[in-house]
Amino acid sequence: MRMNIGKFLICTASILGLVACQQQDQQQDAQPATAVVNPVPAPEPVSKPKPKVKPPVKKLDKKSSTTPALVAQPVSLRPLGRKVSHVPVKGKYVALTFDDGPHPAYSRRAINILNRYGAKGTFFMLGQNVNKYKGIVADIAAAGHEIGVHTWSHIKMNSAPMARVNKEISNTRNLIGRITGTYPRVMRPPYGATSNTLVNHMHDSYGMASILWDVDTRDWRKPGVGKVISTAVNNAKPGSIILVHDIHASTISALEGIVTGLQARGFKLVTVSELMQIAKKEAAEEAAAKAAAEEAAKAAAALQTQQPQSTEQPAAEPEQPQEPVEQPTAPALKPEDFILI
Ligand code: NI
Repeated sequence: MRMNIGKFLICTASILGLVACQQQDQQQDAQPATAVVNPVPAPEPVSKPKPKVKPPVKKLDKKSSTTPALVAQPVSLRPLGRKVSHVPVKGKYVALTFDDGPHPAYSRRAINILNRYGAKGTFFMLGQNVNKYKGIVADIAAAGHEIGVHTWSHIKMNSAPMARVNKEISNTRNLIGRITGTYPRVMRPPYGATSNTLVNHMHDSYGMASILWDVDTRDWRKPGVGKVISTAVNNAKPGSIILVHDIHASTISALEGIVTGLQARGFKLVTVSELMQIAKKEAAEEAAAKAAAEEAAKAAAALQTQQPQSTEQPAAEPEQPQEPVEQPTAPALKPEDFILI
């Protein structure tokens, strides 16, 4: 009898296990097999024998032990778009974006490099990591980089129940808001998997633009530092949004090359929201220039319509001054001349 109960329990457990495995498989199958798919962040292999970059790491480790005081009433900013994968700017500006962090070591190394070159980045964070590394989140924001939401646990939003989506988004958004003092105005759906309904929901309910990308380095596939650098640098164009992940050592190794390569091509690295603000400013300037040109054209047209009445007279007039001009060239008649004649 005991044996039977034992067997029964083992069978039940293994059946449950199988079901769980099947569900996992189904979830993995559901991910699009093509392009632009980045995997659920896998734990970074701990390959410690790296050259010790002690000065920055030491300094930063100290900071990371500080837990920031949480803000009760974060500031809310209006989102600058709905769904954006490339921003239409004319100037040479790009946004470098980092997904899946913050990472306890690599995110700080990333901002150290960005700060060194006067570059700004945008970090789309997982709530579960934000919760673990609040000090890093606070420092990234304090250094002027932008922080966005990437869900709490990297769910595929367009196949998750809406209640789960709301929970993951609001918890992550609220936590980032309370750490940094400002609610994020950008979010990135994991795998880029979203829908019009979700895009509108993110915008209308949470004040966040859904940010995708137009340059995918595929750094998570570890194609080699050189390849990651060349993909980012060579494919960038004005308004590009470049995707990397600050949870891979190899990406951090490529970062300096990416930043200096882009800067050598004349690009300035700004945050995603700055990029959208630049686009709006350029559009406003363009509209103002167009309005000024139209005003000038109108004024010119008004002058032309006035001219027909006075056309004939002024047309004759220019010749008149020419005649008097000739007069002085002729020898002036002196009283003596009259006498001589
Ligand atoms: Ni991701």
